[in-house]
Amino acid sequence: MTVKQKVLQLLLNADSQYFSGEQIAQELGVTRASVWKSVKALEKDGFHIDAISNKGYAILDISDVLSEVGIKKQLNYEDVFSFEIYDTVESTNKLMREKVSSTQGLVIAAKEQTSGIGRMQRHFYSPKNTGIYFSLLLKPTIEASETIFITTMAAVAVCKAIQNCTDKKPEIKWVNDIFIDGKKVCGILTQGSFSMENNKIEHVILGIGLNVYTPKIGFDESIKDIADSILNEQKYEFKNELLANILNEFWAMYENMDIEQIQKLYKSYSFVIGKNVSVHAGDNEYMAKVLDINESCNLIVQDENGEIHTLNSGEISIKL
Ligand code: BTN
Repeated sequence: MTVKQKVLQLLLNADSQYFSGEQIAQELGVTRASVWKSVKALEKDGFHIDAISNKGYAILDISDVLSEVGIKKQLNYEDVFSFEIYDTVESTNKLMREKVSSTQGLVIAAKEQTSGIGRMQRHFYSPKNTGIYFSLLLKPTIEASETIFITTMAAVAVCKAIQNCTDKKPEIKWVNDIFIDGKKVCGILTQGSFSMENNKIEHVILGIGLNVYTPKIGFDESIKDIADSILNEQKYEFKNELLANILNEFWAMYENMDIEQIQKLYKSYSFVIGKNVSVHAGDNEYMAKVLDINESCNLIVQDENGEIHTLNSGEISIKL
């Protein structure tokens, strides 16, 4: 751990209590000058730190900055996950592609993405400090056809985590969008590679983007009517709490891979069943009613001619 991380850990554990530079230096066995330098660096990272002479330093309760120390405070599986946290990247999924030889459990998170990638080659709007943008590297022993369950598990984990950390009621729009009160707050993009030889997955990059706060300048024109944020006002250490909860909830399911249970949970959060939707499959577009989500998490719809279609997430998108 760097001195900066140690200072952060001490201040986060202090619950707004003040520590003098001298006390921190003694506690950590470092110089006062390096404590001061660390505090300045933490302020640059976005932490609101109160510095009062004769009293010392404390992190103000409006601080909400993504940090490894903050995530680990709430993480149940410290030995599973490793972290790389960046201020700005093009895309965490893209960066992860360069690191797929790393051990399963690597999390690359960023405070901002300049070219966030969404499904269907769309752009994922990822402005600075208002969201959580991260990718998780997985090496599951599953067949290619089963990767859908990684996405569905992730969607369930996000919903459970939002419920653990807020009083909101998240819902899943098939296959991988999370909505609150009819607006999208999170998108999931699962990418991977599989071996043609044995039809097994080599690695999966699970990318999750969450709108935590509404950006000061608002959402991008292209999404402003359909997107929303999870919170209306700044909450102390919320991003770290939410990210740790997502990882905890995801890993608890991933370890067991109880497909039947995952499908049940997925269905319980889904709000498309019974709804009329517009289905886009390649150049083809038609209106249909959603009848069910089957055991493979396919969407079962009935078109206007009464014909039943089983939709696979890879090929289509739906509009409510
Ligand atoms: C979608 O809504 O179409 C999926 C969006 C997925 C966005 C996340 S943000 C972290 C990761 N990195 C990316 O470039 N994309 C995913």
